[in-house]
Amino acid sequence: MDKIIEKLENLKQHHIIKYMENLSSEETENIKKQFEKLDLSVLTMNGKEEERGKFTPLSAVTLDEISENKDKFTELGINLIKQRKIGAVLLAGGQGSRLGFDKPKGAFNIGINRELYIFECLINNLLEVTEKAGVYVPLFIMTSVENNQDTKDFFEEHDYFGYSREDVWFFIQEQLPAVDKDGKLMLAAKDKILTAPNGNGGWYASMDKTGMLDVVREQSIEWLNVFAVDNVLQRIADPCFIGAVLDSGKVSGAKVVAKASPDEKVGVLCLEDGRPSIVEYYEMTDEMLTRREADGRLSYNYGVILNYIFRVDKLDSTLSVKLPLHRAFKKLRYMDENGEIQSPDEPNAYKFETLALDMVKLQENCLAYEVDRKKEFAPVKNSTGIDSVESARELLKYNGIKL
Ligand code: UTP
Repeated sequence: MDKIIEKLENLKQHHIIKYMENLSSEETENIKKQFEKLDLSVLTMNGKEEERGKFTPLSAVTLDEISENKDKFTELGINLIKQRKIGAVLLAGGQGSRLGFDKPKGAFNIGINRELYIFECLINNLLEVTEKAGVYVPLFIMTSVENNQDTKDFFEEHDYFGYSREDVWFFIQEQLPAVDKDGKLMLAAKDKILTAPNGNGGWYASMDKTGMLDVVREQSIEWLNVFAVDNVLQRIADPCFIGAVLDSGKVSGAKVVAKASPDEKVGVLCLEDGRPSIVEYYEMTDEMLTRREADGRLSYNYGVILNYIFRVDKLDSTLSVKLPLHRAFKKLRYMDENGEIQSPDEPNAYKFETLALDMVKLQENCLAYEVDRKKEFAPVKNSTGIDSVESARELLKYNGIKL
């Protein structure tokens, strides 16, 4: 029997075998070709998440400590930038399903009386650093199959918002199959199985597969600063942050914000079996949520904001490690049994993702570097309410940015 059919039978995906029986030979061939490249092992995950170890608190270099050492840290960081030893990696392959905007999230106009795109906010922030350092920071932009062309076109149309286009590289992340609530594969088109981007944890492996690591080596880049597209106050290649990590002698660093309240829904940087790790809010016991240190600070106080720096040689040694897979229930456009494309209003499918935060656990150590959330954390996840266009606009205004 055909290997693919056998695999589908073993994975209890008989509906797809049956479906293929009614397709033309060309359509069947297309689906089979897609299966040859698709990692179907995710279908055996059955919602199992990895088991966690023993959590202990991890302190951070605080705002006060940073301010005392600002000049020293900044000088160290600027020197590294000047030598072009740090590159930036913008994670922009997400589907932004909560925002419900049908273009790349970075192309969203957050302005009110003028155009101000999310990508533009990020590039403006980066330009502040490159102007100070007198060199451009190599910038790698991760996109997805779905939004790659639109993203590239958008940068072209806007002349890279004043950034140097020779210092920008785009690469596409990988896809994984998505399933319905019963674990069954779905269709995206008549001859196409539904897939979704494989999460933001795959960024370094995707840089490897797409030849970006050759660029990193050619350019002698030693550190990478990876960050999310949706924080419009995101400081990229922040010299003070880079310098603090260099000064600490640690192999990685994470920007963190002090929690607004003990029950704030944010992943907290801590230690897990002695290694740096992130504990999700729903994994924390009441004791962990409310425990305090002698100075009154919460023991598990510092939430991550998806802005990390890693040493390239240490990342290389993680390439062979399989990151844990997480399932996320999302709204995904699909083709129904009548051949109609549906864009659901409610989550309808599980996608499988690895997460950038799980890369922290692969590092020997990590410097938690506190930033002021009012100045550096304005995520755009939803259109209204918490972490929304509205709240991000307020924070942009607070930072003197005209909208
Ligand atoms: P989110 O976790 O907010 O996911 O991404 P999302 O897909 O963009 O949005 P929702 O959940 O569907 O509303 C956090 C960051 O990771 C990037 C996003 O672009 C964002 O910068 N990301 C996420 C990727 O680059 N690839 C992915 O597969 C997922």
